Amino acid sequence: MKIILLGYMASGKSTIGKLLAENSKMKFIDLDDFIEKKEKKTISFIFKEKGEVYFRLKEHEYLKELLNKKEDFILSLGGGTPCYAKNMDIVLANKNTVSIYLKSTIKTIVKRLEEDNSERPLITNLSKNDLVEFVSKHLFERSFFYEQANIKVDINNKSIKEIVEEIRVFL
Ligand code: S3P
Repeated sequence: MKIILLGYMASGKSTIGKLLAENSKMKFIDLDDFIEKKEKKTISFIFKEKGEVYFRLKEHEYLKELLNKKEDFILSLGGGTPCYAKNMDIVLANKNTVSIYLKSTIKTIVKRLEEDNSERPLITNLSKNDLVEFVSKHLFERSFFYEQANIKVDINNKSIKEIVEEIRVFL
């Protein structure tokens, strides 16, 4: 089985995916890391030098490459992956694949984005007020895609361990 983790930026997709993979003795792949390795460039560099459209094309291409593999793994998507190029339809149509939405409130996301120093090209230049506004609107638009996942897990006020245990019940 392929387990696909999705959700907004800073919802813990990679951290949860790694621990879930460890506990389930499965391979873990992070789509952003996979893109960076294949392209030999960081995501920030790709956004800056080639633009978001190029990034979305590559994201789509590498997602399909991974889903076409015979092997099983846990894959964490980028926050925007389900929302472009019919990627969510492709995930849902793929055999032996279960998709899990790590669902969080605007408040949790904003707090985490403020605490997390990872480079995120979409939000780097936003002030606190603008960030709240941006996340509110963006999450509203993206929820349409996220909500199509097979399983939804509320991650608010839960530890990584608790979330992983909750996910394992479904698998
Ligand atoms: C993006 C999220 C990022 C990365 C890129 C675009 C998005 O991944 O794919 O910066 O559109 O939400 P994370 O969700 O892992 O931060």
